[in-house]
Amino acid sequence: MTGPAAVPLATARAHAKVNLHLGVGPAREDGYHELSTVFQSVSVSDVVTLHADDAPAPGGPGVVTGLRLSSGANPEVPLDAGNLAWRAVEAVVSEYRREHGPRELPGVLLDLHKSIPVAGGMAGGSADAAAALVAADAWLAEEYGVAPRGVDKLLGLGAGLGADVPFTLKGGSALGTDRGDRLTTMMSRGPFHWAMITNARGLSTGAVFAKLDEMRAADPAKETLQPHLDTGAVSHAMISGDPYQLGPALHNDLQPATLTLRPDLRKIHDAGMNAGAINGIISGSGPTWAFLCEDEAAAQEVVDQVSADIAPASGMVVRSPDAGAHLLY
Ligand code: C5P
Repeated sequence: MTGPAAVPLATARAHAKVNLHLGVGPAREDGYHELSTVFQSVSVSDVVTLHADDAPAPGGPGVVTGLRLSSGANPEVPLDAGNLAWRAVEAVVSEYRREHGPRELPGVLLDLHKSIPVAGGMAGGSADAAAALVAADAWLAEEYGVAPRGVDKLLGLGAGLGADVPFTLKGGSALGTDRGDRLTTMMSRGPFHWAMITNARGLSTGAVFAKLDEMRAADPAKETLQPHLDTGAVSHAMISGDPYQLGPALHNDLQPATLTLRPDLRKIHDAGMNAGAINGIISGSGPTWAFLCEDEAAAQEVVDQVSADIAPASGMVVRSPDAGAHLLY
């Protein structure tokens, strides 16, 4: 697909996220749910590079000629226009052509170097889209001889790609409302230290939201299934910088649905708590568990013990908050 002549155009990095609070309101008519969620970006990240491809751009308006994973094959990552990073590049190209006029562009080959677990509830696909938006913006600004739009003017395009893309663009700490894509920056002391316990088998975000709707419909009065939209406790705890205050404030409304779809995940929670975590919650829709720990050494201990105790689990130590999507070169 790529020859030695492929010339790098731009490279950008974007980070994964953890939801410290994920409150899920009722389903809306557009199929999405109203959220009240608190995000922090974490230190694990993916890197996306755009190369000028020898192959000409395909007929039609698209420029992307292909996508490859330089970090190793993964059958769960689409290598075609189903990949959000691919669609992100095309979205930025359309925007530049609309604003600055049509222009002959080379074919673009996308290279994804993934470290964020795939389909894990850490917004890996969204982070790839965010990095692709930033890289495409830098490349096209140079092609057109104009100033790049910058992250704030890419948020609208990001929201069109997926609900988590705006946060992976912005990074840091934020309250997400609406679909989770309307962001308000939050204050946080840190860093906080996490053991992220990943799982070989991913989960579909849409399936987890649908399971929560089904469980709420079957038992409307059940306390543990009610929407928790108040983020006051977690906001206070973030400002304190104290993981022992933050631990009890962590909350995820999707967790009962994730654990109903994947009861095998319960034993990972028990193993993490036995290994000394302060608290553990499912990250986003899962299946990754996010265990908040006292410090980096304690987080490493949780990763080591849980991966030794439970065969298909593996893990990584991360810090939060971290940066938004940014250009590397
Ligand atoms: O926007 P994204 O493609 O990441 O969302 C994946 C799926 O998760 C959606 O199709 C929807 O089923 C569910 N979702 C939701 N409410 C949100 C965000 C996502 O129901 N606020």
